[in-house]
Amino acid sequence: MALSLLSLLGLLSTILLLRRAAAAIGVQRPTAALPSFREAPAFRNGGACSSHAVHVVMPLDTNYMRGTMAAVLSVLQHSTCPENVSFHFLSVHLDGEISSLINSTFPFLAFEMYEFDPSRVRGKISKSVRHALDQPLNYARIYMADILPAGIRRVIYLDSDIIVVDDISKLWGVDLEGKVLAAPEYCHANFTSYFTEAFWSDRRLAGVFEGRRACYFNTGVMVVDVEGWRRGGCRRKVEEWMEVQKHKRIYHLGSLPPILLVFAGNIKGVEHRWNQHGLGGDNLEGRCRGLHPGPISLLHWSGKGKPWLRLDSRRPCTVDYLWAPYDLYKSSRVALEE
Ligand SMILES: *[C@@H]1O[C@H](CO)[C@@H](O)[C@H](O)[C@H]1NC(C)=O
Ligand SMILES: *[C@@H]1O[C@H](CO)[C@@H](O)[C@H](O)[C@H]1NC(C)=O
Ligand SMILES: *[C@@H]1O[C@H](CO)[C@@H](O)[C@H](O)[C@H]1NC(C)=O
Repeated sequence: MALSLLSLLGLLSTILLLRRAAAAIGVQRPTAALPSFREAPAFRNGGACSSHAVHVVMPLDTNYMRGTMAAVLSVLQHSTCPENVSFHFLSVHLDGEISSLINSTFPFLAFEMYEFDPSRVRGKISKSVRHALDQPLNYARIYMADILPAGIRRVIYLDSDIIVVDDISKLWGVDLEGKVLAAPEYCHANFTSYFTEAFWSDRRLAGVFEGRRACYFNTGVMVVDVEGWRRGGCRRKVEEWMEVQKHKRIYHLGSLPPILLVFAGNIKGVEHRWNQHGLGGDNLEGRCRGLHPGPISLLHWSGKGKPWLRLDSRRPCTVDYLWAPYDLYKSSRVALEE
């Protein structure tokens, strides 16, 4: 009697242990909430499509999925040859659930997912004025030439808070004239303000801009000759400035200033219409901003405010209504544990 009670207790504690172990495994399974999206229509090639593919690289962050989906839709919708556009997503996790989410939203999309290892920038990121700018994925553009297959020679890099309202093949076709990078240049912007007094007062550092007509450009929209980038050792050059920043604060923003240090004044300028940036307002408060005059091919909500958040909060800026038609968001879906 006493013996069987003991063995019964033993059996009970074994069951409890097993259940606890099972619960521990359950906790380790991903339980992230992924949004769900409406399926986009199929976009088919129009009349004359050449054999050229357009390669678009975008970061893919689960927090910005809604922006990414809207950006992809906008590119396809305005392309004459949407079937010739392929997307390359850089993500810190290769997650099958995210791939199938993209696939179910765009069943005809040509895309690849690549893992960006955040440890590549660990210890190289210095705190900026806005937390979102310090995310490792924000630096992935510096490493894309290493990540993409060697066969890809040119890419268009796009941030996830953009909408393209023109045929992206027009931007693709830009003549780089031997430069590694093309982007709209803003020579009237106050270039001085992107770097600190400590930078400008150090002749050895500030001397980098000597003999260059350095102008601001925004790194959220760039045409990049990835082959030339690799050949020129550009990743290493940008990293060297990130090393300098670690020891001496020479700028306040995230991945943009070290890219400016390497490229400003040495890029191919493209029409301003390809990056109407700043629609998210400034980096601190995200105030509403209007459109700059002139034709527009691409809208960019750089800055703190994002259109999907402002629309959800029922306090949108006027420009956010231009983003809304590309929103494929259906609802938040919490991944179930079992
Ligand atoms: C582009 O699309 C056309 C069909 O319209 C196809 O013949 C061609 O192979 C495609 N090129 C690429 C690189 O996808
Ligand atoms: C995408 O979905 C289709 C079915 O709609 C399936 O045949 C295909 O294998 C899927 N591709 C990927 C990469 O998941
Ligand atoms: C440009 O920015 C610097 C540093 O923020 C400032 O000192 C300077 O007055 C500005 N120049 C102009 C023309 O606004």
